[in-house]
Amino acid sequence: MALLAALAASFVGGVAAWDPSLYTSSPAVLPSPNTTGIGWEEAFAKAKDFLAELTLEEKTALVTGTTGPCAGNIIGIERLNFTGLCLQDGPLAIRQATYASVFPAGVNAGASFDRELLYKRGLYIGEEFKGKGSEIMLGPVAGPLGRTPWGGRNWEGFGADPYLSGIANAETVRGIQDAGVQATTKHYIGNEQETQRNPSTADDGTTIESVSTNIDDRTMHELYVFPFADAVRAGSASIMCSYNRLNGSYGCQNSKMLNGVLKEELGFQGYVMSDWGAVHSGVATIESGLDMNMPGGIGFTNSTPSFWGANATAAVTNGTIPESRIDDMVLRIMTPYFHLGQDKSFPLVDKSSADINGVAKSNFGYDFELGPIVDVRTEEHTQFIREAAANSTVLVKNTGSLPLKKPKNIAVFGNDAGDFVAGLYSLTAGFSADTVEQGTLASGGGSGTGRFSYLVTPLEAIKAKAKEDGALVQFILDNEVITTDGIDTIIPTEDTMDTIVPPADVCLVFIKSWATEGYDRATLEPQHNGTGVVNTVAAACNNTIVIHNGAGPVILPFASHPNVTAILLSHFPGQESGNSLVDVLYGAVNPSGHLPYTIPKSEDVASPRIVNSTALVETTDPNAWQDPFTEGLFIDYRYYALQNNSAVAYPFGFGLSYTSFALADLAVSALVSNASALPDASAPIVPGGNKDLWTPLYTATASVTNTGDVAGAAVPQLYVNLAAAGAPAGTPAWQLRGFDRVDLAPGETKTVEFELLRRDLSFWDVEAQQWRLPSGTIDVQVGFQYGKAEVTGSLA
Ligand code: NOJ
Repeated sequence: MALLAALAASFVGGVAAWDPSLYTSSPAVLPSPNTTGIGWEEAFAKAKDFLAELTLEEKTALVTGTTGPCAGNIIGIERLNFTGLCLQDGPLAIRQATYASVFPAGVNAGASFDRELLYKRGLYIGEEFKGKGSEIMLGPVAGPLGRTPWGGRNWEGFGADPYLSGIANAETVRGIQDAGVQATTKHYIGNEQETQRNPSTADDGTTIESVSTNIDDRTMHELYVFPFADAVRAGSASIMCSYNRLNGSYGCQNSKMLNGVLKEELGFQGYVMSDWGAVHSGVATIESGLDMNMPGGIGFTNSTPSFWGANATAAVTNGTIPESRIDDMVLRIMTPYFHLGQDKSFPLVDKSSADINGVAKSNFGYDFELGPIVDVRTEEHTQFIREAAANSTVLVKNTGSLPLKKPKNIAVFGNDAGDFVAGLYSLTAGFSADTVEQGTLASGGGSGTGRFSYLVTPLEAIKAKAKEDGALVQFILDNEVITTDGIDTIIPTEDTMDTIVPPADVCLVFIKSWATEGYDRATLEPQHNGTGVVNTVAAACNNTIVIHNGAGPVILPFASHPNVTAILLSHFPGQESGNSLVDVLYGAVNPSGHLPYTIPKSEDVASPRIVNSTALVETTDPNAWQDPFTEGLFIDYRYYALQNNSAVAYPFGFGLSYTSFALADLAVSALVSNASALPDASAPIVPGGNKDLWTPLYTATASVTNTGDVAGAAVPQLYVNLAAAGAPAGTPAWQLRGFDRVDLAPGETKTVEFELLRRDLSFWDVEAQQWRLPSGTIDVQVGFQYGKAEVTGSLA
């Protein structure tokens, strides 16, 4: 406690003073708490009955993965009519499956700021998993949160704000589980960079451990655990622990985070699943709170060697681990299974999964029974994908060129406009930026990608639309040709032979930024000289519209070019990419996406960087990779605010529309008088934590009006100032704590309501080890982007 007090006192200025010795070790929290089945009582009883039938060997097999038709597999037990569990990636599609849909990525869904869209996306993806016989979806993603803009997997999650990510994860979990599929919220926790996420071997043979993400207690709670708490509250069946070390110990054997924070503090009733190969010990991981080892390996002789399986059986028989711990693991795994009714006529694993993954026999004489190949795509899903990607497109510049007014001569430029030349399932881990040079990016790579059964490219959709209008579509897709041959060859000047003849009314330039699991982004600038392509075209075409596909944030150095009349950020839009874009370009959909992160003016001013260096790559010190999160709570907009936002090109929450909106009449009502500073200590711990943390303390309402002449959706955002209300130093001034998305006809006004929960108005008190309301009055502002209040008030 004295240590924590000293720590609290050491905050100076904005960011906390950093004492590395405090964060390179993690206290042991033992034993692992038992589930009591809160909220899942009926299923818990069924799980207990099931457990009672199992032999020890079956129990350890149930908690240890095995080979089989899916990305992860738990064996069936024929005698008990249990057909096993099929775990499949990932967060935007049932990744490897054939005849399945590829949805917009997490970052698109986050950019929508739309709860209904988030829920439906989860529901529809869940339906496809169920149709293919997969009980467990390996998604959604609450970590990485997006601490560093270079993070290779940020796009799988929903945005660099814990509140936005929390709501998005909760809605997605509800959607997935309402479809009857278990959600796995991942990666817990601190997996904010891909570089050295796994151990490596030095030239001299030394094992170099994974990067250690070192986070102080307050930052851990207020940024990184925060969205996981929402997911747990929403009933996430599983939480996947991450590859990295965390304050010195591996994510999947960090008992403080698994037993202490997740199971005790957040009251998590489901099971902790390891990331693939993230288990580096047997007994220690089991004691630390890991409940399922993936991909596992159930026998000593299984082709995938495992710390668990038969080793876990031995650990029980020789008395190292009590059988009751294994029992709890089984109960945690089986309760959500019964709760979601997965014991009742769940579809068989689609045969195509086996063809793709290869089936192996389990040790228990049980073969996964495979079903026919089914097409899980539906008209409803397809329509949703098209609309969701269009709605979540972020328009950051528009001088009036959009929406297009049936141009008769369109020129398309850039390597992101056409077909992906390496095929429809090429967007996998290991594909470097170079190999994905030619073709549109509709998903990122790695386990979070999807196998496209088709992909409507921007060029294809533009051609189809132009045909309706009798318009000409000319194009040059090779960035090299555009930038080397230069303007004269592209667009006519007086005495040249030109490629684009006659000159176009509108020049659509497609640029991109690849991102994939396994790598962090090498640059925040558009790749393949995207900036050069835009500048070349804009030099000759005074109506240049830029469309960017891929990871954000992306630097837009050409944003102030007078000939760049509009900029659209489509991120990774999924299979309907071109159609969604055409809907936005021509105004069938009025874009309402808002940035779920900040875009800085240049790469130089962005922070924090990925930990990496030649010295680290060549190190022989097993413990060399350390990533101290010295910035504390100051990531993304909180960081830029420390320099008065001078480095910001486009702020968090920003997004234009084809109409305009106004906000007025902010009114606040207190729902609880004289709320105590700390939550009611006698309130039960429910999934999500102390129940009282989720008590609404205030509601704030405001009226939002469409002041333009076309229909559109506004995204009002509420920010609170806990710092000025007396939260300790180290508290960012304004933090997002409410948002809504409202459809409005021209001239229409609607009232939006923000419910402010105790947790959302509190800071994590490191001494009390509890969420505490600041003692003063909390100011609030509501606007359409970070840092620009339209209406202000206070919670009084
Ligand atoms: C590793 C990734 O980190 C994780 O997200 C994924 O679910 C597993 N591999 C399984 O593919």
